[in-house]
Amino acid sequence: MFKVDDLKFRYKNNKEDVLKGISFEIKEGEIFGFLGPSGAGKSTTQKIIIKILENYQGHISYKGKDLKDYNNDFYEEIGVSFEMPIHFSKMTAMENINFFLRLYKNNADIEQLMKRVGLWEDRNKMVGEFSKGMKIRLNLVRALLNKPKMLFLDEPTNGLDPTNAMILKDMIREFRVGGGTVFITSHIMADIDQLCDRVAFIVNGEIKEIDSPRNLKIRYGKKAVSVEYKENGSTATKEFPMQEIGKNSDFLEILTTKDIETIHSGETTLEDIFIKVTGVKLSNENQ
Ligand SMILES: Nc1ncnc2c1ncn2[C@@H]1O[C@H](COP(=O)(O)OP(=O)(O)OP(=O)(O)O)[C@@H](O)[C@H]1O
Ligand SMILES: [Mg+2]
Repeated sequence: MFKVDDLKFRYKNNKEDVLKGISFEIKEGEIFGFLGPSGAGKSTTQKIIIKILENYQGHISYKGKDLKDYNNDFYEEIGVSFEMPIHFSKMTAMENINFFLRLYKNNADIEQLMKRVGLWEDRNKMVGEFSKGMKIRLNLVRALLNKPKMLFLDEPTNGLDPTNAMILKDMIREFRVGGGTVFITSHIMADIDQLCDRVAFIVNGEIKEIDSPRNLKIRYGKKAVSVEYKENGSTATKEFPMQEIGKNSDFLEILTTKDIETIHSGETTLEDIFIKVTGVKLSNENQ
C-alpha cells in the first residue's frame, strides 16, 4: 500500500535531520504500528506520508504511484486523526462533522458512527464543552467520515478511559476486517500489542526494528521455561532451556511428580522490547 524508501526530513530552521533515511512498507490490510520515544519522529513521518509536510528526500509511493503525483483525490481515500484533536469549539459535534462531510465524495453513516463512540446523545452539544475523551472520540468519527481505505492514527487511545479505549480498538479492528489498512502510533504498548500485525521502532530518526509483535517477543525473549512447584510445603522455582525441552529428564520429572503451581515460557513484553531497542536512558529522558 505504502512504500517509504530512504526518507529524510529536516524542519526549516533545524540544524539536523529529524528523519535520517528511514525505509518501511505498509502492506494492504495490515495494522502497522510506529513506536518510539518522544521526539523520535513518529508524527513527522505521519505528516509526510499524508502529504502535509513536503520537501522531503527519498521516495514514497502509494499503491505503486509516487505520492507527489497524487492530487487532493488522495484525501478521499485516507482518514487521519492527529495527535491533538482539532475541532471548531463554538460549533456542535454534528456541525463539526457536517462541515467536513461536505468536503468528501463518500460519506459514512454518521448516526451509526456517533452511536458507536457514544457521542450520539451529545451530538448537539458545543464541542468546546466536550471533555478530552469526547474530543478524542469525535476525532475518530472525523477520520472515518469519508469511508477511507486507509487510516492514520496518531496516539488514538491517549487520554481515553479503558472502556472507551476498548471501543476504539474494536473499531480499528473492524475497519481492518472490512479491508482497511492502518498506520498507528502510540506510547501505549499494550494497545499496540493487541492491535498491530507489524511494528517498527523508530529512535532518533532511524528505524531500529520492524517485525510482528510475536516475532519480536520470540527474538528478544529468553528461550527458557520456568516452573514453580510445591516442595516441602514451600514454592520452588526451576528454569530450563527451551531447546529439546521434551527430552529434558529433570523437567519431565518435575512435571510428572510435583504439584505444579505455574509454568511460563520466557516471553518478553513489547514494553521490555521498547526499552531494549530504544535504550532505557533515552526513553526516561523523554518521558
Ligand atoms: N514544526 C516543527 N518545527 C521544528 N521542529 C519540529 C517541528 N515539529 C517537530 N519537530 C522536532 O522534530 C522531532 C520529531 O518530532 P515528532 O513530533 O515527529 O516526534 P514524535 O515521535 O511524534 O514524538 P511524540 O511521541 O512526543 O509525539 C522533535 O525533535 C521535534 O522537536
Ligand atoms: Mg507525536
